[in-house]
Amino acid sequence: MTSMRRNLVRVLDGETLSPPPIWLMRQAGRYLPEYLETRAQAGSFLQLCYNPELATEVTLQPIRRFGLDAAILFSDILVIPDALKRNVRFNEGHGPVMDPIDEYGIATLSAESIFAHLSPVIQTVESLRIRLPAPTALLGFCGAPWTVATYMVAGRATPDQAPARLFAYRHPEAFERLLTLLADVSVEYLVAQLDAGADAVQIFDSWAGVLGEPEFEAYAVRPVARMIKGIRARRPSAKIIAFPKGAGLMLKEYRRRTGADAIGLDWTVPLDFAFELQKDGPVQGNLDPMRLAAGGSTLDEGVDAILQRLGDGPLIFNLGHGIIPQVAPENVQRLIDRVRGISES
Ligand code: CP3
Repeated sequence: MTSMRRNLVRVLDGETLSPPPIWLMRQAGRYLPEYLETRAQAGSFLQLCYNPELATEVTLQPIRRFGLDAAILFSDILVIPDALKRNVRFNEGHGPVMDPIDEYGIATLSAESIFAHLSPVIQTVESLRIRLPAPTALLGFCGAPWTVATYMVAGRATPDQAPARLFAYRHPEAFERLLTLLADVSVEYLVAQLDAGADAVQIFDSWAGVLGEPEFEAYAVRPVARMIKGIRARRPSAKIIAFPKGAGLMLKEYRRRTGADAIGLDWTVPLDFAFELQKDGPVQGNLDPMRLAAGGSTLDEGVDAILQRLGDGPLIFNLGHGIIPQVAPENVQRLIDRVRGISES
């Protein structure tokens, strides 16, 4: 394939683009009627994740509607525990559930044959690269070991990941084994996505923000650094975005310690601090998803503040977390137009 330098990749290489490339976390999802239709056709959410044809379709839906600069593979971070036979289910209205793992389960956990289970996801990446418009970048992703482990230990979503934090103190060796296993399978999984045509990959550490300082180092920084080192050992030019949501002041050394090309910022990161972080390399973010839901001048002001403070450096425009189902699709169009300078006022 001819190498075309897509805008997202140019920013990941350190270039400043004006307007900045834009994509949105959860850009495919329940706020789009066409998504709900395809999901109903698939049966369940997980069946949608493992159906290359339909997963390709829902990945393309927001690209067709809005012409975003990047598409993100439609899948979920919890396909890894599902492949590890943790019996993952997504029950309407209750979030994900799975069989909780304990220290004995961790001792016998095996990564054998998980790639047969994940092959439909890799097929989706291949089909996307063929079907996407040439200028649109394709992002692969996975969860960071800590975030995936929190769901595996609790067996469900919790407000503050207390079960995993407690488990890590009580069973530090078992927990280390779990994180290392997750890091190593995630390296293989992301390398497979890159080889199938992903331009870059994002590592979601959605629960990094519940960790104290030593735990952040041990569970958020070290496993992600191990992953990035592992990926680069195999694919030296791999482009990697890491998103340690809620990391606050611990973002400061995060890029250097993990080796990520770009760091994702949630909406609580002050723009002055983001500006400092941008001096060391590209940043991605960080509009409050609720501003997108609110729309109107609330949305415009949030966009303008980010562009003013971060627009003169390497920036990938995004939300500070995923789109919520209540968002009106028109607001997404307004956001994109505003970022691209196609505003009415
Ligand atoms: O468009 C995209 O962003 C690509 C697809 C994507 C999904 N999940 C689809 C999804 C991505 C990148 C994810 C990542 C993900 N999944 C994360 C990290 C990002 C974040 O949100 O912090 C996490 C923690 C998960 C785990 C997960 N998946 C939860 C907690 C839930 C339930 C909450 C919810 O919004 O329903 C999911 C379900 C899920 N993943 C949906 C989608 C579109 C909704 C499922 C549905 O259609 O009902």
